[in-house]
Parts: sequence; C-alpha cells; structure tokens
Amino acid sequence: MDKLVSKSKIPVRDKFLPYGHQWIHDEDIDAVVKALRSDWITQGPKIDEFERKLANYCGAKYTVVFSSGTAAFHGAYFTAGIKEGNEIITSPITFLSTANAALFLHAHPIFVDIEEDTGNIDPNSIEKAVTGKTKAVVPVDYGGHPVDLERIAKIAKKYNLLVIEDACHALGAEHKSGKIGNCRYSDMTVFSFHPVKSITTGEGGAVLTNNKEYYEKLIMFRQHGVTKDKAKFGVNLDSVPGDWYHEMQLLGYNYRLTDIQCALGISQLGKLDKFIQRRREIVRIYKGAFRNNDFFDLPAEKAYAKSSWHLYPIRLKDKYKKKKKEIFEKLREKGLGVQVHYIPVYWQPYYQKLGYEKGICPNAESFYQREISIPLYQSMSEEDIKYVIDTIIEISGRI
Ligand SMILES: Cc1ncc(COP(=O)(O)O)c(C=O)c1O
Repeated sequence: MDKLVSKSKIPVRDKFLPYGHQWIHDEDIDAVVKALRSDWITQGPKIDEFERKLANYCGAKYTVVFSSGTAAFHGAYFTAGIKEGNEIITSPITFLSTANAALFLHAHPIFVDIEEDTGNIDPNSIEKAVTGKTKAVVPVDYGGHPVDLERIAKIAKKYNLLVIEDACHALGAEHKSGKIGNCRYSDMTVFSFHPVKSITTGEGGAVLTNNKEYYEKLIMFRQHGVTKDKAKFGVNLDSVPGDWYHEMQLLGYNYRLTDIQCALGISQLGKLDKFIQRRREIVRIYKGAFRNNDFFDLPAEKAYAKSSWHLYPIRLKDKYKKKKKEIFEKLREKGLGVQVHYIPVYWQPYYQKLGYEKGICPNAESFYQREISIPLYQSMSEEDIKYVIDTIIEISGRI
C-alpha cells in the first residue's frame, strides 16, 4: 500500500480536514467579549435568552441548558425518575453518554439493533426488549438523521414508557412533525453543543420539553437541587428566616452553563439554518460524486426526515470491510481526519465487565465494521470538498 500513496496523482495538502469542525466568526467572538465585559459571566441574562431562543427555534415550551450533553442526559434521566432496577432501551451505535448516564443512576441500558441505512435504532427491535423494568426508550438521531419518532412514540405509549430523544447530532434537523426538539413525540429531547455539533458553546448541552414539572425538576437538578421559589418551600412561609433562605430538596449537581457560553450559543443559533443549508449542499455534492460507486454505500435520508447531516457515514461494501483499517490509515495519511462512529457501546471493556455479550446486535456490529465518517462541516471550501472526493475515489480505486 505504501506504493499506492507515492503513485498518487493528488498532492497531499498541508491542511488537515477533520470529520467535523466548529465555525466561529468575528460576531461570535464579539458576543463573547461583550459577555465578558458585562456584570455577569455566569448565571446572568444570557442563560434565559439562550434557553428562550432555543425553545422558540425548535418549537418546544421549555429549554434547560447544561454544562454538556452528558450532564443534560443525567438531568433528563433523573427527571424521568430513572433509578436502580430500571431499564432504558437504546442503540449501541451512539456516544457513550447515552448509556453511561443510565449507569450514573444505577439503571440498566438495554441495547437493541439498528437499521443499517440510517444507523438509527430499528423500531421493530424495541418492542421485543420491553420488560416490566423498562422506563424509557432513548432513540438516537444518528448522524443528524431523525429517528422514526411517530412509530417509536406509539410503541412507548403502548407500554407506558417515556421517550427521551438523543438529538445531540440533530439540532436543525426536521421530522415531518417539525423541527427536532419540538417534543411532539418525545417527553424530553437532548442536544449537545460540543464543537463538532451543529452549533457550539465550547462544551454545553440542553434538554427541551413541553412538560412544566420536568422543566422545574431539570432546573433544580442543574443547581444542586436547590430552589429559591417560595411557592415550593417545604416549610411554612411564616417560619422563613429571611430573603437568603433557600432549600435543597433533591441531590443535584453544578451542571450550569455560563453566560459567556450562552452568548456564544445565541450568536451561533442565529446562523444555524445557514450552517445546515451548507451541510446539505455538501451532501448533495458528495451524493453526486459517489453515486453508484463499487466500494461503499451512502447514508439514506428517509422521506419523513430532513437530516442535519452532523456526520457523513459511508459504509464499505461487505467485501471491502476487512480493508477498513488500511483505507482509514491511507485517508488519514492524505490529511482526511476520518473517524469511526461508533464502536458498539457494549463492546467497551467497561460494559463487557458488566456482563454484556458481543453479538447481541448484529446489524450494529456490521455497521461498525463497515463505517467511516468522512469530513463534513459548514466551513468546508469547494476546494476542500473536491479534495475529499478525489482522495476517497483514488484510495478506493486502489484497494
Ligand atoms: C449521540 C451523542 N449523545 C450524547 C453526547 C454527549 O454530549 P457531550 O459531549 O456534550 O457531553 C454526544 C456528544 O458527543 C453524542 O454524540
């Protein structure tokens, strides 16, 4: 294979093209600087403003922002009442947090199989996994492609389960019911604002919901389980000693997002639709260039969905999957920051030690063996896109 690279007609560029990347403009920097110069750098007005704007954008009633998507998951599961002895049903093709947050609460993640063309949980596999201990279904909008929310919500209703949607990849995506995050079919929807996501706050996350009780519990969980709301005090108001009085009513955490980060989030949110439009345009170019190729399959987009294209996951055809390591390394040598999303969660040593067996989700395992995420982000130039296409076609043609 070394010879292959030296024979390459495409000169290696200095520029490394990661699989995903933030896009920060001067106005984002100005917004952050303004927040830094203000009286509030945390717990100020930018938090409410970001929450309000995000709820409006998605069409949900409430948003609670958190210090990360992982913290948001911890909050959502806690709020759903998930605890020791409960099970949640989710996909193994996800980032660790989706399942780990259930472990934080001593609950048990149950992994079910996926559809290979989208990488999303297969609604047919959910029902078989429901037991008397199941509390919630946690579908993941893999790569930004919305899950079949309508079908999943129907199953959840039948068994009296909650739906907590992992939309960490899918801010800006659409389902036929509207924007992802509108919570029409989910009890709570979780987003992440990590730099590779649709918009960024550095680290950050959010839970959206239409349920006021959930909203209030999420707020408390984010701030040590404390309330300053007199209406919620457990004591008689006559015995409240003064304005400083507050009550810790549950065991919460410090999972707050700062005003500095929210200022960045507000500025980024204003550009979200443009970001998604650009991602969709790049995907259109990829689809045209890779159409009918002999080496790999392209991700699907179902009629009910408009993906935010957080990832562009190609899947090597079966006969080439043994060459994945070689192809991956060659692409990296050429400066493409390809990545693999994901190793099935239950393959991780920690989960293996907990007793999860390999082989339980054959489609997910095959997906992992075939999948490579190629560069896709809003700030890619035409030259970058062409370089990605030419390099992938060249390397594929030489395997
Ligand atoms: C599918 C999925 N779920 C959850 C998370 C957790 O988000 P965060 O990294 O903001 O904690 C991520 C982020 O990588 C993710 O991709």
